[in-house]
Amino acid sequence: MLASKVALITGAAQGIGLAATRLLLKNGAKVSMLDVNEIVGKSSCSSLQKEFSSSDVMFTMVDVTKSKDLAAAFERTKQMFGGLDIVLNNAGIGNELKWKKMIDINLVAVIEGTRLGVEHMSTSNGGRGGTIINVASMGGLIGMTFAPVYCASKHGVVGFSRSLRELAQSDGIRVNCICPEFADTAIVNDSMIGMNEETKALVKSIGLLTPEKVAEGILELATDTTKAGAVMTVTLRRGMDYYRMLGDPKVTKAKL
Ligand SMILES: NC(=O)c1ccc[n+]([C@@H]2O[C@H](COP(=O)([O-])OP(=O)(O)OC[C@H]3O[C@@H](n4cnc5c(N)ncnc54)[C@H](O)[C@@H]3O)[C@@H](O)[C@H]2O)c1
Repeated sequence: MLASKVALITGAAQGIGLAATRLLLKNGAKVSMLDVNEIVGKSSCSSLQKEFSSSDVMFTMVDVTKSKDLAAAFERTKQMFGGLDIVLNNAGIGNELKWKKMIDINLVAVIEGTRLGVEHMSTSNGGRGGTIINVASMGGLIGMTFAPVYCASKHGVVGFSRSLRELAQSDGIRVNCICPEFADTAIVNDSMIGMNEETKALVKSIGLLTPEKVAEGILELATDTTKAGAVMTVTLRRGMDYYRMLGDPKVTKAKL
């Protein structure tokens, strides 16, 4: 399905990013994995090189908040794999105590990664077009009293991604975002430790998606050429769905 496509995925060492890497590889794409965690990233990449092919997947240690390093990783991906078609801005943390850092990773770096994706893929800049998927969260659509800044960062990702739907026409780039409910990864399991009993009970009652289920939604957004500015939700109850909001005012060209 994705033969000859090149994907760049941030936060790819583990969790949702790793599941998405594996699924895109399974579907024929080449994947450039980026993560700040060098040890886990290298180990995940080397397992995938054995499972698939060493020429189809590479790892670069990058902190997405370091703009120059992130830009260099985009360049490296293009040089090694000969192009770029899919960007998954997925790296994220959940830590209300480090709230400025969280905004930098969860929102500022997503904007930066989107800008770089547009720079490299835009048909009006010599690129071949492509798709950008920004990982938000159900916390980007609702309030969560136990994680207000996390919610703010993810609401930002949703608003930003929706606002770029016209890039599909002007630049040949479809920008969409995905809002999963709780998934069984380190971000939830680590923050469970600091959660009060009521919040733990809430997570338990909703249940945990597998990262593989979220990756299916990512694949769907990567391949469904009709979607631009869409907000996909992924929940245990309803699977993949699209969030319907008030209509956005029509503009001719998104400003980025
Ligand atoms: N797990 C959930 O319940 C859930 C639900 C909705 C949305 N999300 C979002 O999914 C995304 C992936 O999270 P996950 O659940 O797989 O958690 P995870 O903690 O398993 O993975 C996050 C990855 O991001 C990397 N990362 C963190 N800071 C980074 C930085 N500065 N630069 C580069 N990489 C960095 C981590 O090293 C890690 O590999 C996040 O954006 C998260 O907010 C998760």
